[in-house]
Amino acid sequence: GLVNTREMFRKAMEGKYAVPAYNFNNMEQLQAIIMACVECNSPVILQISKGARKYANQTLLRYMVPGAVQMARELGSNIPIALNLDHGDSFELCKACVDNGFSNVMIDGSHLPYEENVALTKKVVEYAHAHDVTVEGELGVLAGIEEHVSSEESHYTKPEEVEDFVSRTGVDSLAISIGTSHGAYKFKLKPGEPLPELRFDILEEIERRLPGFPIVLHGASSVLQEYVEIINKYGGKLENAVGVPEDQIKRAAQSAVCKINIDSDGRLVFTAMVRKYLAENPAEFDPRKYLGAAREELKKMYIRKCELLGSAGKA
Ligand code: G3H
Ligand code: 13P
Ligand code: ZN
Repeated sequence: GLVNTREMFRKAMEGKYAVPAYNFNNMEQLQAIIMACVECNSPVILQISKGARKYANQTLLRYMVPGAVQMARELGSNIPIALNLDHGDSFELCKACVDNGFSNVMIDGSHLPYEENVALTKKVVEYAHAHDVTVEGELGVLAGIEEHVSSEESHYTKPEEVEDFVSRTGVDSLAISIGTSHGAYKFKLKPGEPLPELRFDILEEIERRLPGFPIVLHGASSVLQEYVEIINKYGGKLENAVGVPEDQIKRAAQSAVCKINIDSDGRLVFTAMVRKYLAENPAEFDPRKYLGAAREELKKMYIRKCELLGSAGKA
């Protein structure tokens, strides 16, 4: 069955790698994740967002997961698999997921005043831990580096808050804000301006204050340009889509960052391959053909990520 993140993160910390957390919304994404992680022998965290629950039907989506675990076992693989609620926004939603077989939940109170974030997170932890489910909290707001206000200090995680937050809430991992952001447009750059560096100095200060404690990085897609180019070549229009360079993700994975969230790169691969397939095969109308093409390329991309994060071969 599923495992919570405790042992996964202990090993990731010790082995200086990060476990990938891949979002899924449909069968092909889930198959690609499982096939990739089985093939490269990587532990994996499957993630379901609130939006995914709404899109695919929460009941259908969660029952797909035991099927995916079974599929991995039938492929002869014993990789650890966790199921996480991504960006839970209320106690009720987190409780529903704990009650329905998730092995980790994220409670994202990062937008709340500090004391409210502490109280909400603590309440989720108390309920989840009673059911052997681990909890991810968040401090600091993921906002892109804004034009002209390059590096809005106040959005980054304040290292002076992390010890108090972790000890008072009892969370098992902590998502932080060091310059990443969600989606395919992470940085607004002026012509010729280089990509900014993540704030590794903040990460290091957090590591110093919380030795051996698992840190989580959201918004960690690299917005792989080869797929952006395919999308644009076949009728898409993604302008100035940029992400976090892979060398910075690799560096983060070798630190106390034990979980790295990737959604957008999967969306880009999926869209690129569907656009390409349909453009090249205009007479085709069997969804298995273009979804199959997307699934095949997705699997390759997930293996590439597992290798980058260092989780390949660590299951
Ligand atoms: O953090 C956001 C994830 O990429 C999930 O996105 O809420 O559109 O499913 P979503
Ligand atoms: P990306 O948009 O960079 O893939 O981030 C995904 C994420 O953080 C999901 O919680
Ligand atoms: Zn996120």
